[in-house]
Amino acid sequence: MDLEKLLSDRLAPAFAAVAGGPVDPLVRRSGRADFQADAALALARRLGRPPRDVAGAVLAHAVLDDIGVSAEVSGPGFINLTLTDRALADLVAGLAGDARLGVPSTATPQTVVVDYSAPNVAKEMHVGHLRSTVIGDAAVRLLTWLGHRVVRVNHLGDWGTPFGMLIEHLIDLGEAEAAQHLSMGDLDTFYRAARVKFDADEAFQERSRLRVVALQGGDERTRRLWRLLVTQSERYFLTVYDLLDVGLSGDDFRGESAYNHLLAGVVDDLDRLGLLRPSGGAACVFPPGFTGRDGAPLPLIVRKSDGGYGYPATDLAALRQRVGELGATRLLYVVGLPQRQHFAMVFAVAEAAGWLHPPVRAEHLGFGSILGADGRMLRSRAGESVKLVGLLEEAVARATDLARSRNPDLDAEAAAEIGRAVGIGAIKYADLSVDRTTDYVLDWERMLALDGNTAPYLQYAYARIRSVLRRAGTAARPDAPIVLARPAAPIVFAQPAERALAVELLGFAGVVGEVERSLELHQLAGYLHRLATAFSAFYERCPVLRASDELRESRLLLAGLTARTLRQGLDLLGIRTLARM
Ligand code: ARG
Repeated sequence: MDLEKLLSDRLAPAFAAVAGGPVDPLVRRSGRADFQADAALALARRLGRPPRDVAGAVLAHAVLDDIGVSAEVSGPGFINLTLTDRALADLVAGLAGDARLGVPSTATPQTVVVDYSAPNVAKEMHVGHLRSTVIGDAAVRLLTWLGHRVVRVNHLGDWGTPFGMLIEHLIDLGEAEAAQHLSMGDLDTFYRAARVKFDADEAFQERSRLRVVALQGGDERTRRLWRLLVTQSERYFLTVYDLLDVGLSGDDFRGESAYNHLLAGVVDDLDRLGLLRPSGGAACVFPPGFTGRDGAPLPLIVRKSDGGYGYPATDLAALRQRVGELGATRLLYVVGLPQRQHFAMVFAVAEAAGWLHPPVRAEHLGFGSILGADGRMLRSRAGESVKLVGLLEEAVARATDLARSRNPDLDAEAAAEIGRAVGIGAIKYADLSVDRTTDYVLDWERMLALDGNTAPYLQYAYARIRSVLRRAGTAARPDAPIVLARPAAPIVFAQPAERALAVELLGFAGVVGEVERSLELHQLAGYLHRLATAFSAFYERCPVLRASDELRESRLLLAGLTARTLRQGLDLLGIRTLARM
């Protein structure tokens, strides 16, 4: 149950009565009461009346006591809202008995296609693919948990002119040797060697050109060699997903080549619709509203002057297939912000062609870059792009070392398990806890710190609660589920910190509902951090195990519920919790 929304729904008719039209009551958490509604101030300005009078008039219309809420006008014209202890205790008891922690499954399931990760064959995954994979995985988890039908699509870059040169290089190396290079994940070396030959050697260039023609013409041997490249790369990407602990599997690869047979039809249909314009030998669509620096209309090139189709045509075909065949009603593209214009144009053309129309929505979930300590794009010492696997391995190694130094008695296996959950969790959380569209600096010290808005802080809060529950004798085994039941006795609020924690726990549903819509995952991360902070304050002031019976039960319940919420929330972000740390 979403408390903020409930209060908002109750206040909205009262505001409407006073305003003579709809007003968002602007309900939020409050430092003085449990919640406050701020909309009377702006409304008063509009009506030319004193704000406190307006707030009072709203309250005269509002029905709140049946849900155990008392309200009063405060300060210049805020409305303070406070739940009675009884109502709050009831709501928390409801959460305690609910496996979904107050978050209902959606009443309107959608088919959502999530396009994410999408590295390129025979090329190393870079940090941009890391962000796409981490954000996409969290979106998939959240939407799936809410009951949507989610289709994961890994739009692998497995097609196009570079494959002529890559296949020729493969032939030069010999299949066995090439497979060896590629399976070791030495993709960049392979790609670069091919590129160097291509740039230096005209005969190689010509061979590569012919090879592209053979590939497109469906020549059998060429196809087989191309498959070899793709399979080796896929195998390698799967090891990265495994290390990164994300749910992408071999079944989710649906590379650009999968749309190859649809491209001519896409271009024909655009032509039939009268949307195509020739430009310098290429066939283009000029969607309205897109202009270059010089003010001239910008083309989306759907067929190149050499007759080949490229990235934009493929995205148009994929979009049409996702809506038409997969029945998608929501299309998500988790791709870096440099491709913002590409997607805006693809969506505009698809709309103009009638392939994308309400209620189907397409959204580009663009993201910023990961920066090095120097504030510039993350690069290795040699100035090359950083290899993703190296980054992940470093995270795990650092987290393992930290775990060992904090607890020298840990055996190697336990240290490795903690290192993996914390290291990978820290990488993911650093990404998911900032506004997606901003750049962020990869700072090991900060992201692995046990305090601050970090994965280890949240994981540690969870482990600490598990340890309390163990000592209390409930959920004694480390992996035992935390008891899920409506408490027999009412929850007690002896201290303000208990109350604050209870109100925070009730906020989970609202945040998850909000993120379902916005996919601003940092809102969920921020919520979990607030929850863990509220728990710390509670734990400092409210002894649990030493409290008398009734209080002890009540506090154990709040603690258990906090642990379940942290675990569920982190799980939605793709981050593991540990019963011991
Ligand atoms: N392979 C592309 C890249 O590495 C990303 C593809 C994103 N998805 C899409 N449907 N265009 O930049």
